[in-house]
Amino acid sequence: MSHPKQLSVQALQWTGNSLKVLDQRQLPQKIHYHEYDDAVGIAEAIGSMQVRGAPAIGIAAAYGVVLSALQHYPGLDWQTRVNTDMQVLAASRPTAVNLFWALEQMRQQLATLCSNPVAALNTLAIQIHQDDIAANHAMGERGADVLGDAKAVLTHCNAGALATGGYGTALGVIRSAYQRGNLQKVYADETRPWLQGARLTVWELAQDGIPATLIADSAAAWLMKSGKIDWIIVGADRIAANGDVANKIGTYSLAVLAKYHGVKVMVAAPSSTFDFSMETGEHIEIEQRHAKELLADCYLGADSLIDAWNPVFDVTPANLISAIVTERGVVLNPGEHGVRSLAQ
Ligand code: MRU
Repeated sequence: MSHPKQLSVQALQWTGNSLKVLDQRQLPQKIHYHEYDDAVGIAEAIGSMQVRGAPAIGIAAAYGVVLSALQHYPGLDWQTRVNTDMQVLAASRPTAVNLFWALEQMRQQLATLCSNPVAALNTLAIQIHQDDIAANHAMGERGADVLGDAKAVLTHCNAGALATGGYGTALGVIRSAYQRGNLQKVYADETRPWLQGARLTVWELAQDGIPATLIADSAAAWLMKSGKIDWIIVGADRIAANGDVANKIGTYSLAVLAKYHGVKVMVAAPSSTFDFSMETGEHIEIEQRHAKELLADCYLGADSLIDAWNPVFDVTPANLISAIVTERGVVLNPGEHGVRSLAQ
């Protein structure tokens, strides 16, 4: 049975002079867009996780640069002011390389002398957004090819339309495989501590009419042991040259479990997620978020005996990954050769 192509939800809506950001902290209870007309607001929206997911963070930052240029051009020192805003955007979250990739694209455009710099920045930000959607559709098809006739998958975090320009990376593969009629069953990890799976992934799949089964993160080993899944499919925040992958905390433990149980692991990510300046994942900065995302309020006082360790990403070694899927191609067993073959 094949399923019709559906439009997916939009995390970001560009109006030409403002960015509407779907507040993902309020999902699934409430669909509410905040509207921003300056870069500092966008940086806060990223830092507070109104918008999250590596590609969506990069796209939001690109629009943030346009808003900065709209605000400051053609005043004196407008380029200096835009550069300062870019530093604020760069400091919003550390792990997803798409943020720095997008800012670098915008910085190069800013450095180009042209008659209408704001229009040029605007065009580039829209291009970054559109390219990401196109990349997601391409990797959706490639990933579905790799899955073949696999019937059931588990995904972690939210690597869907909410985390990208649209369609999604891991969820793009799932959408494409489901539309082909091959994929029968999607499991989603709730993804502690922020619950991207429980709040976002199952909601997003439901919007598209794709049934899903939510599991507690701690049920994943037992799910694998029971033989219920063929693949784990995740996105990525940064991929090093050797194929090591930084992604949402818990990805590493899933990959270790997958190895033990003979389940395959697919990482789907656009080429903007590759960081060839890093030979391995060893030096990827892992974001630590505030203890309040884990701890009950009663433990948050200065005299509390209880604190929390809250790294929100981990690094999965390439040798635990079966396939890395991008819009440019697929690398099987990246632990053997790394991913430099996907560099352009
Ligand atoms: O903390 P988040 O929600 O921004 O983390 C998101 C993830 O880890 C995603 O898996 C990753 O960014 C890929 S999104 C296509």
